[in-house]
Amino acid sequence: MAKKDEKNSIPQHVAIIMDGNGRWAKKRFLPRAMGHSAGARNVETICEDAWNLGIKYLTVYAFSTENWTRSDDEVSALMKLLKQYMEGCIEKSRKNNMRVRVIGDISRLSKDMQDAIRRLEDFSKDFDGLQFQVALNYGGRDEIVRAVKGIARDVESNGLDPEKIDEAFISSRLDTSDIPDPDLLIRTSGELRISNFMLWQLAYTEMYFTDVYWPDFDKEELKKAIEYYGGRERRYGGRKA
Ligand code: FPP
Repeated sequence: MAKKDEKNSIPQHVAIIMDGNGRWAKKRFLPRAMGHSAGARNVETICEDAWNLGIKYLTVYAFSTENWTRSDDEVSALMKLLKQYMEGCIEKSRKNNMRVRVIGDISRLSKDMQDAIRRLEDFSKDFDGLQFQVALNYGGRDEIVRAVKGIARDVESNGLDPEKIDEAFISSRLDTSDIPDPDLLIRTSGELRISNFMLWQLAYTEMYFTDVYWPDFDKEELKKAIEYYGGRERRYGGRKA
């Protein structure tokens, strides 16, 4: 298989399904919440590693629209952790020149959480280092439903011509409107599913699956994923990228 040239061997946008926190904790006889805490610490490390390896955009799946069905205790522990993360991230975004945005429907989150998200997004909006997206109460189908509702309203009330609706237009109405589609998707912990993550945006994305649990996914593992990507020949329906 043809190798890419050096310039294209680093993916511009990497998306990660961070799976395996629970199993990581179980293996150590720890409560699941401690697996999530270890996972959150790893997010910080991987952001720095990603930037140092030349990645410009990183998107992580932190809480899905389906995760509400977990036990009340686990949902509370995850929400607490995520809120602490959003608050602590102001300092990290300044230190690392990192822009942070949340994708997903945040209207179902607590007011405190929504405020913390807005503060962080606003504080970091001009930083031009790593462009970091956290998917929170995110589902790919839900994102498409929200976009379609908005478009339908514009057709009904704002004179939008349905003929103007093409793929680029739909992309522009998604939560990721000004972010390029991921070049590489990584899923940890051995599961081979997309689990409702970025369904529209992953259309041509290369996929990398590893058995490593998320808290153990370190810079060396990230390099392996990038090496895998560098050896792939990108194809968009028959045309070489
Ligand atoms: C999947 O592991 C992971 C999650 C549902 C949550 C991901 C959250 C974090 C990594 C922590 C917070 C994130 C940020 C951005 C600070 P699992 O619980 O499904 O693991 P299992 O499949 O082994 O049970």
